[in-house]
Amino acid sequence: MSMASSSLSLLLALIILCFSPIQSSNTIGKGYRLISIEESPDGGFIGYLQVKQKNKIYGPDITTLRLYVKHETDHRLRVHITDAKEQRWEVPYNLLPREQPPPIGKVIGKSRKSPITVQEFSGSELIFSYTTDPFNFAVKRRSNGETLFNTTGELVFKDQYLEISTSLPKEASIYGLGENSQANGIKLVPNEPYTLYTEDVSAINLNTDLYGSHPVYMDLRNVGGKAYAHAVLLLNSNGMDVFYRGTSLTYKVIGGVFDFYFFAGPSPLNVVDQYTELIGRPAAMPYWSLGFHQCRWGYHNLSVVEDVVDNYKKAKIPLDVIWNDDDHMDGHKDFTLNPVAYPRAKLLAFLDRIHKMGMKYIVINDPGIGVNASYGVYQRAMAQDLFIKYEGKPFLAQVWPGPVYFPDFLNPKTVAWWGDEIRRFHDLVPIDGLWIDMNEVSNFCSGLCTIPQGKQCPSGEGPGWICCLDCKNITKTRWDDPPYKINATGVVAPVGFKTIATSATHYNGVREYDAHSIYGFSETIATHKALLAVKGKRPFILSRSTFVGSGQYAAHWTGDNQGTWQSLQVSISTMLNFGIFGVPMVGSDICGFYPQPTEELCNRWIEVGAFYPFSRDHANYYSPRQELYQWDTVAESARNALGMRYKILPFLYTLNYEAHMTGAPIARPLFFSFPDYTECYGLSRQFLLGSSLMISPVLEKGKTEVRALFPPGSWYHMFDMTQAVVSKNGKRVTLPAPLNFVNVHLYQNTILPMQRGGLISKEARTTPFSLVIAFPAGASEGYATGKLYLDEDELPEMKLGNGQSTYVDFYASVGNGSVKMWSQVQEGKYALSKGWVIEKVSVLGLKGSSGQASDIQINGSPMTKKIEVSSKEHNYVIGLEDEGENKSVMVE
Ligand code: NOJ
Repeated sequence: MSMASSSLSLLLALIILCFSPIQSSNTIGKGYRLISIEESPDGGFIGYLQVKQKNKIYGPDITTLRLYVKHETDHRLRVHITDAKEQRWEVPYNLLPREQPPPIGKVIGKSRKSPITVQEFSGSELIFSYTTDPFNFAVKRRSNGETLFNTTGELVFKDQYLEISTSLPKEASIYGLGENSQANGIKLVPNEPYTLYTEDVSAINLNTDLYGSHPVYMDLRNVGGKAYAHAVLLLNSNGMDVFYRGTSLTYKVIGGVFDFYFFAGPSPLNVVDQYTELIGRPAAMPYWSLGFHQCRWGYHNLSVVEDVVDNYKKAKIPLDVIWNDDDHMDGHKDFTLNPVAYPRAKLLAFLDRIHKMGMKYIVINDPGIGVNASYGVYQRAMAQDLFIKYEGKPFLAQVWPGPVYFPDFLNPKTVAWWGDEIRRFHDLVPIDGLWIDMNEVSNFCSGLCTIPQGKQCPSGEGPGWICCLDCKNITKTRWDDPPYKINATGVVAPVGFKTIATSATHYNGVREYDAHSIYGFSETIATHKALLAVKGKRPFILSRSTFVGSGQYAAHWTGDNQGTWQSLQVSISTMLNFGIFGVPMVGSDICGFYPQPTEELCNRWIEVGAFYPFSRDHANYYSPRQELYQWDTVAESARNALGMRYKILPFLYTLNYEAHMTGAPIARPLFFSFPDYTECYGLSRQFLLGSSLMISPVLEKGKTEVRALFPPGSWYHMFDMTQAVVSKNGKRVTLPAPLNFVNVHLYQNTILPMQRGGLISKEARTTPFSLVIAFPAGASEGYATGKLYLDEDELPEMKLGNGQSTYVDFYASVGNGSVKMWSQVQEGKYALSKGWVIEKVSVLGLKGSSGQASDIQINGSPMTKKIEVSSKEHNYVIGLEDEGENKSVMVE
């Protein structure tokens, strides 16, 4: 052997070694070998994989697989693996539009036999490399050579069992993989499987699969002091367990295909931008939906609801939206009104009154349609055969109305019928939005059920969640009892437990087994379409079940939590995860769903909840009343915290716009703004709104102080701007936090647009603006930026260029003894027509202190005149007087 050939073999051996799989201890499969590859005309490539050695554990292996790899954009790589011969279930392309891989069974392009063992297929930011025998693949970051994903062990691909693992460096911080109430905070800990399967399991169950399924994770690593983030989505709707073991992650999926998307980042904001570019940008929300919402289950009649609204007014606590759970319904049936408790004429008069004030009204709706021959909604759906079927008949389940059938939203005719029912209901009651609940889909019974002869079902008073149908377990097919059992409901329940039997069928023969976790998603899309058509306005929908892409249509609340300190803590990490999932309009039931909160807890909860993107107090049927005015102390905390929320509404609305344009979460983990600062990687007790407003709440009983982490820089106290925390290299600070007070700090380099606030967002948004300019404390030089988006907020679209919106970028700099402020205005006409003005500019962090409003000079004169928001000529020099002590001041 020549020197040259021996060094070549050494090189190959080394390469092979680098990619050789860790020997798997399992015997489920022996992996695949890559037998050929072809170029695909769309710029990707296709490979064929042949199973190495068959076995029958969890069913026979699929012999030949088709691999399709494409760099879909500079920063997005797709790796799709499916049966080479048979079409398999995938997340429907009409529900989640995306590029379709070439059809299977067709050999396209030129065959290009792999001459060496390891090959690379490079995109602009990511590199895909693979070994042929056994087939394994890795994804690397081109800029620094870091391996992001590296399959190890044997790839397993059977009809009902798919397995793949990746190794991870131990320094990777992993976020996502929900919906799951994580006891340990936002950063995943090596744990029991993270199971993804939509379930009606109360959110008090920690570390178990809950209402939504989001098989995506963000991986954040600090490489040599610099942070790099990327994300991995496995687009698959089948049930799965994802085992995160610290240095590896294993997917065990019970169907569908491997459809991996890799998003290069490298910043967390880049990641969500790239992710939502694929799955759909978060929905535009109407302005009022950022106001405060009050709900409860058990507003037994309309007078109670009227009282609630009046009491909020009396207590001077902001309130924009009043909700009804199913109390307004007749016998818990969708799209009906209880003629005694909610007489239509009175309800209409009430709605007229609140609508005139600018308030809104939302009601609940469940997918289960009561089986009742005299019920029009049921009759119309039956006439068109729109329900999910079992052995040719509608599948019978039980929810609040008693026996129900579930509409099949995969059927286009169901979507049309649903739209028609929403239109009919809207004609009856002019609702402003819809809350779609129980859509995992939840069923109080499991199995094949019949209505019991001669018995009332449901029986007795109250909501009735005990199964009263006569039911038999269904275990006869491999869909009801798949070979691999996911950890459903946290206890390995059958996949059809308290939901539709998984062998039931949808439109076009689609099995519930495959489509289970997209039920809520398909209902959300249908509801969005309907509301848009009926109202011609930007829809507001709150959905309990969510899937990849739901954020494009709906807000989400985190389901049935408890009135406990733990539920309050967990609400922060769940909310932050939903920001990563592309569902930024999210919040938890403020003060807890059940049991009743203590007064102290409710105080602390509103101090957090006032800063949830979606801020709603909601309680269970059996809980005592917990509206914020029920306790004097809570009312005071609410006035303080919601008072601040209503002042920063223009900022929140601008964040909503940013989310809609770029996927940027409204509420963010601190690492979004400070990715290089590893101290904040696991932080789940504080959060940011946007990039620079930090909430550091009290989350424990009896505490009147809070120990908060301050990443490097100057942080200004929002309730008393003369105070600041200056953190040189990052530090923890103990802050006073008396019962009625929440710590909110504004970061340096920010210009925050605010208004005067108010008790209803409609009024608050007409008040004059103020700008808070925060410079690094005492810096003789510095800059700050901010933005503001304003529009006609109920227009279906949220965008510039329609003559009904304005966007302003604000800039300020300090240096040479003066502060300059200027702005760039796009489409200023709209703001001008509304007469919005800036009445006050506060500058924080200046070296020197005069502390008086008159110290601000604009273009050489004191700020006596209000500035138009829309002014194109924002080019102000804000004059400073004395330069003196090095302390932060507020000048206004
Ligand atoms: C379950 C929901 O999670 C809860 O918020 C609601 O109050 C009940 N269903 C009753 O509709």
